[in-house]
Amino acid sequence: MIVARTVAEARAGLEPRRGGSVGLVPTMGALHAGHRALLAAARAECDTVVASVFVNPAQFGPNEDLDRYPRDEASDLAALEEAGVDLAFVPSAGEMYPPGFQTWVEVAELGRGLEDDSRPGHFRGVATVCLKLFAIVRPDRAYFGQKDAQQAEVVTRMVDDLALGIDVRVVPTVRDEDGLALSSRNAYLSPEERRTARALPRALAAGAEAHREGGDPAAAARAALAAEPRVAPDYVEVAHWNGRAVLVAAARVGSTRLIDNVVLEGGWE
Ligand code: PAJ
Repeated sequence: MIVARTVAEARAGLEPRRGGSVGLVPTMGALHAGHRALLAAARAECDTVVASVFVNPAQFGPNEDLDRYPRDEASDLAALEEAGVDLAFVPSAGEMYPPGFQTWVEVAELGRGLEDDSRPGHFRGVATVCLKLFAIVRPDRAYFGQKDAQQAEVVTRMVDDLALGIDVRVVPTVRDEDGLALSSRNAYLSPEERRTARALPRALAAGAEAHREGGDPAAAARAALAAEPRVAPDYVEVAHWNGRAVLVAAARVGSTRLIDNVVLEGGWE
């Protein structure tokens, strides 16, 4: 596995592989089985697999967890090697945002509301870093998790709007045995908070069940969450995206913010 730390190294490493298909899996590291599902999908579909590990400062708000976001480069590189990645792109913040950087991408509608209400500017940071990664790697396919459904929609829209010619692949959410969606931020939860957090996927399941029975999914999920006072909901809504109906939720357990969703109608192929 090639480890590229600069744009020039990534380009040079990929140059001999341009004859075949290239898949990109963008990550912020602290890799878990959710990331591994994306890597496995890329490995199965592409001749060359590139993974990026970059904790992108531009998508964190001033009071968010940029400084304490879990970072363990050695174990991330070992996980990427194990997943059969050909090139790991691990740039510094200065490499991605050199002095004078001032170009930003905004996905005007999908990038507003829900996550953006709690995290203003978040998707501007996500879209910009993804576009830059796409420009560096020039992948045929890029892999994103359904776990971050609004992010997947924002990136898909950007790729279509800017005619980037990349196939955006959305991989189903990987969950722990008790239903909690895997997330790098789960590491912040105390054992008791970790147990409390199960209420979030349970509430979404209750919402999906209500929907199947002709009821109001968001109301059912909110009612289920209200039964667990240690979970503070941020939003619980049905989003209508590109023919899909997705019950999306964000909630705080202690000081940790968790997001999750379940598809009600449509879904990613
Ligand atoms: P990160 O949170 O590291 O997630 C990287 C990718 O893994 C995202 O596409 C995310 O949706 C996916 N993922 C996370 N948990 C998952 C789970 N339980 N099941 C399936 N997929 C999961 O999302 C980001 O990083 C950043 O915003 C990034 C796209 C890298 C841009 O900086």
